[in-house]
Amino acid sequence: MSETQIASLDRLTQALADEMPEVNQIILARMESEVPLIPQLAGHLIAAGGKRLRPLITLAGAQLAMAQNNITVMPQAARYLAAAVEFIHNATLLHDDVIDKSDQRRGRQTANALWGNEASVLVGDFLFARAFELMVETDDIQVLQLLASASARITEGEVKQMTVQNAPDSSIDDYMSVITGKTAILFAAAAHAGGRTAQADTPLRDALHAYGLALGRAFQICDDALDYVSDAQKMGKNAGDDFYEGKITLPVIFAYQGGDADERAFFDRTLAQSDIQEGDLHHAIEIINRHQGIERALDMADEFVEQAIAALDIAPDGEMKQALIEAARFSARRPS
Ligand code: IPE
Ligand code: IPE
Ligand code: MG
Ligand code: MG
Repeated sequence: MSETQIASLDRLTQALADEMPEVNQIILARMESEVPLIPQLAGHLIAAGGKRLRPLITLAGAQLAMAQNNITVMPQAARYLAAAVEFIHNATLLHDDVIDKSDQRRGRQTANALWGNEASVLVGDFLFARAFELMVETDDIQVLQLLASASARITEGEVKQMTVQNAPDSSIDDYMSVITGKTAILFAAAAHAGGRTAQADTPLRDALHAYGLALGRAFQICDDALDYVSDAQKMGKNAGDDFYEGKITLPVIFAYQGGDADERAFFDRTLAQSDIQEGDLHHAIEIINRHQGIERALDMADEFVEQAIAALDIAPDGEMKQALIEAARFSARRPS
């Protein structure tokens, strides 16, 4: 593999190793509340870590803009926004695990499994609200607009997903619209907002936005592939959840579109009618493999990676740009 082909978050994590502790401090301070259940429940999820990919991308966006404008000190607003995007992400995870009835996340039991759906939804709302406090503190109404509309789009994506659930004849367009909303828009806003804090010019803002959008699409396509091929040990969340929930993801769409009558009937019974028997997940994987569903999905993710990298063309060259390129490749070919 040549250097430009590395698919890893290491370079990005390393480049921002001095910055992330401060962001983590902000996250910990802002999840505090006089109501003990809130930091308890939020802390359970937040302390379990996660990749922190969205805040890393916000800080990276800020650094590219700093390079463009010869700014040497990371603006505090970038750290606030990095914390805010991680809060938005964690809020959506709390809600998502309720909706998906998931019982594992980041290698731990989910908050909904431990404290119930009501507490999870409410603490998710709390984290959203905290994210908005942080955004307001940056005093940039445009950033508020950007992240507020991203938050609306996430929910639209999740609601749209609900409406196309159990419909294995869904189109690739429907799927793309779901994942753009629920996942990609936040990555786009994270990168773009970071750039704004260091006065990125319009071409760089647009580039960061396009980078995040394409990376986010690749990221979710890969996540949906992993749901069929990985395992709980590696992912820290249960494999097969999408199948059991009747979620229509790209591997299934490819298999259904190319499927014969028997194969389609199988997906109609399992995914559309939610009649799932022992061994059905295994059989679904067989059908998906017969139609190269995973491979084709990952090829499509790779196309978005190329789009993400191309978007960075106009960004200042250097360590940070290279780190973002490797992070884009990681998003499509990650182990978890
Ligand atoms: C999980 O996101 C939700 C998806 C968009 C697939 P991440 O994989 O970034 O979750 P953490 O934060 O690393 O746990
Ligand atoms: C991503 O969808 C969820 C959000 C972006 C809110 P998934 O349902 O695939 O995410 P996981 O697999 O539970 O992390
Ligand atoms: Mg889920
Ligand atoms: Mg998933």
